[in-house]
Amino acid sequence: MSYNLLKGKRGLIFGALNEKSIGWKIAEKAYEEGASFVLTNTPVSMRMGTIDKLAEKCNTIVIPADATKMNDLDNLIEKSTAHLGGNFDFVLHSIGMSPNVRKGRTYDDLDYNLLSQTLDISAISFHKVLQICRKRDAINEWGSVVALTYVAAQRTLYGYNDMADAKALLESIARSFGYIYGREKNIRINTVSQSPTMTTAGGGIMGFENLMDFADRMSPLGNATAEECANYVITLFSDLTRKVTMQNLYHDGGYSSMGMSFRAMKIYNEGLEYRDVQDDKSHTKS
Ligand SMILES: NC(=O)c1ccc[n+]([C@@H]2O[C@H](COP(=O)([O-])OP(=O)(O)OC[C@H]3O[C@@H](n4cnc5c(N)ncnc54)[C@H](O)[C@@H]3O)[C@@H](O)[C@H]2O)c1
Repeated sequence: MSYNLLKGKRGLIFGALNEKSIGWKIAEKAYEEGASFVLTNTPVSMRMGTIDKLAEKCNTIVIPADATKMNDLDNLIEKSTAHLGGNFDFVLHSIGMSPNVRKGRTYDDLDYNLLSQTLDISAISFHKVLQICRKRDAINEWGSVVALTYVAAQRTLYGYNDMADAKALLESIARSFGYIYGREKNIRINTVSQSPTMTTAGGGIMGFENLMDFADRMSPLGNATAEECANYVITLFSDLTRKVTMQNLYHDGGYSSMGMSFRAMKIYNEGLEYRDVQDDKSHTKS
């Protein structure tokens, strides 16, 4: 069902790789809600993924850009506003990648060149997008900018590696730039902290299926899906949330406020009973 929440709004969407991508689902919803926007991704991701299919569906174009490269971003923003016939009302940053995770380097054995790349791709790119948009005055008054993040910025989660540091930086950039852009042009900047979601980036995290199961058991409302995340982000792009800014907004079924749940405790208890049986067996043997 469409509410026309984004009727007449123009936007820029980073990070749709394939149908599983959170950015993909947000683009689909934005289109349903009446927005027009430009899609972008790296040339490699455009070849690997299926973004052209999404562009066709949303009646738009894809402009390639590596979000770590200032020249690419400058060209992207210039061409996008020209294509749309006006400035952006919303921008989505849905970008994350850790070369350390990809190469199997654990947090106590990071390669620092790769760490710089993780931070550049997953966090500093957000600053670059905002800085160029501001210099070009490419976002309209009362515009809305959202970046996707994860609770590993606040809590330590096994296996999330240097992406936790990247997310902490990303959330800080949203606050610092949110102050500047808010006072100057009433533009709001927020991060949405999403439940673990089975996507290409998510699947790269060590033990991801178990992490998803654990988060689901801990969350009173269960894990939030990519579609549900898209619905939430659309409200943030709409005029209904004009005074929400510089926030890290949890969209996680309640996970971030939990300490222990009945469903998680049950599994833990079953594990303990299993361990007790094993202990008993070894006692009988000795
Ligand atoms: N999947 C999850 O569990 C989860 C949970 C919370 C937050 N997030 C965040 O959601 C966002 C989207 O991830 P996703 O889960 O949809 O996975 P995804 O793999 O579909 O999307 C990641 C995107 O980042 C893009 N990207 C990588 N390097 C880039 C660069 N240099 N320039 C431009 N784009 C680049 C990729 O091409 C891809 O489209 C990420 O910020 C991720 O950290 C994901």
